[in-house]
Amino acid sequence: MSDATAKKEDRRKFQAIRGTRDLLPPETALWNRVEQTAYDVFATYNFGEIRLPVFEQTELFARSIGTDTDVIGKEMYTILDRTSESLWRDIYELYEALPHPSVSRDYSGFVSRLIGFVKRVDDALAGGDIPTTERNVAAFGDLKEICRRAQELSMPDEGRRPTIQADWGTLIDRILSWRNTLDFEENLSLRPEATASVCRAYIEHGMQALPQPVKLYYTGPMFRRERPQKGRYRQFYQIGAEVLGGTDAPAIDAEVIEMLMAFFDKLGLQGATLYINSIGHNADNCRRGYVEKLRTELAKIKDNLGPDSQRRIDTNPLRVLDSKLESEQPYIEKLPRIADHLCDECKAHYAAVKRQLELRGVLYQENWRLVRGLDYYMRTTFEITAPGLGSQNAVCGGGRYDGLVELLGGPPTKGIGFAIGEDRLILSLQACGKEKVVQGRDVYIAWMGERAYAAAIHAAKDLRNAGFSVELPPIEQKFGKALGQADKLGAKYALILGDNEVSEALWTLKTMADGTQQKFTAPDLLEFLRQQEKVSS
Ligand code: HAM
Repeated sequence: MSDATAKKEDRRKFQAIRGTRDLLPPETALWNRVEQTAYDVFATYNFGEIRLPVFEQTELFARSIGTDTDVIGKEMYTILDRTSESLWRDIYELYEALPHPSVSRDYSGFVSRLIGFVKRVDDALAGGDIPTTERNVAAFGDLKEICRRAQELSMPDEGRRPTIQADWGTLIDRILSWRNTLDFEENLSLRPEATASVCRAYIEHGMQALPQPVKLYYTGPMFRRERPQKGRYRQFYQIGAEVLGGTDAPAIDAEVIEMLMAFFDKLGLQGATLYINSIGHNADNCRRGYVEKLRTELAKIKDNLGPDSQRRIDTNPLRVLDSKLESEQPYIEKLPRIADHLCDECKAHYAAVKRQLELRGVLYQENWRLVRGLDYYMRTTFEITAPGLGSQNAVCGGGRYDGLVELLGGPPTKGIGFAIGEDRLILSLQACGKEKVVQGRDVYIAWMGERAYAAAIHAAKDLRNAGFSVELPPIEQKFGKALGQADKLGAKYALILGDNEVSEALWTLKTMADGTQQKFTAPDLLEFLRQQEKVSS
């Protein structure tokens, strides 16, 4: 292979990772419009923005979303934190430096290394770099005790202690058996969703002391190791909102859904369908009782189900209702329905949510099989599908999660929210022809000559200050070529600046659509463009 070919091959190696992609102009203009519309609509409902870290402790997600879910079981990107890695190295070096009692008489170097190591472990536990499990806390206690004893043994005793070498021998055996007692969990994960992080932040910043409820929205990338396909990516984007604290009044559920539908309406999304359900709460007289009943019924039809559903009979029977497998549908349709097993409070809550949606003119369809794939939900669940998405047609999912904040160590707190899959929303908008027609430049400045260039720089500055987008070519070009370029870039106007224009202080503006040309002084030019802008908007 020639050098040149090898270099070319090398360059080709860099590609976006499977399931991730670059978002490029002009499509990013649509992304911006979608996000800006979300900010505008959510602000009218008094939601404020929260910006969250992209990674958190794995335990936060595991505890919130549930270890039996697909997201936690197989889709998280979990990374070994560097501090853990460097602590591993410290342990290795500490043991490398371990003196041998039969040959060593001077332990001082080792003892000072040990003191430094105790400090590192202390910092790592305090900073959450290694988990504060019971085992780690006990291991740290042992380590401190070992260190105290090592310091004691290394005190000068002028040879009065005959057992000193044997004591060191015992201590070193203890140090050796300490070696693997710290747990180094892979303790950081890229966020697969943001509800858990919002609840963590609510607790961490004592937001329960603010007027309740606290209404927050977020946008940004989420990460799940799913099999990539149209509308399903490993790095995808969500626009989400959460209402935390206050009451669980059904009006809150309905208002959150109303806001969501108002957002879709404002974007001009067509064919969005809202599905709702209530999955009750986790008590014997409600969901727990239903789940047991479901398990019994599923066991009876086990042989007719696929391997995934068979496994879920034990781990998470509700998720069988989610199955899209064609052959299972007739059996699932005959299973008991949760609506018939809700406790009185949950039944009344669900009925009130529906009434509240009707009051707001929000159309919905009930779907008793809508159980959602994350464990934190209770009572109201909802999903919105949109056209143009193939099998991945859920453009938004959400629901109520009272109790999640408490599960994470906070005070009893009500919660409800949703997350929109922005990638899917964009695909659907494009499918229904609602992508914004992206405009080219407002003005392309065609200039020739030194003096004209100086005037062009000033004109560009003034036009940009007034809010117009301007392309100022960096190199002089013949007017014919420059106007061709203006046409290619989709400029609305070409501002022609040559020696004549500069001498006369009158600038020529060509309207690209019809080829007409007019002359203006600099202030008149700005005024003309402003007027045209008003007419076209
Ligand atoms: P989720 O249903 O897991 O809920 O995700 C919400 C939306 O994110 C989905 O409806 C879908 O549009 C989009 N989405 C999920 N996975 C992917 C993927 N791999 N590629 C592209 N889009 C995807 C949640 O995340 C909850 N945190 C929603 C919530 C907020 N519930 C209460 N508050």
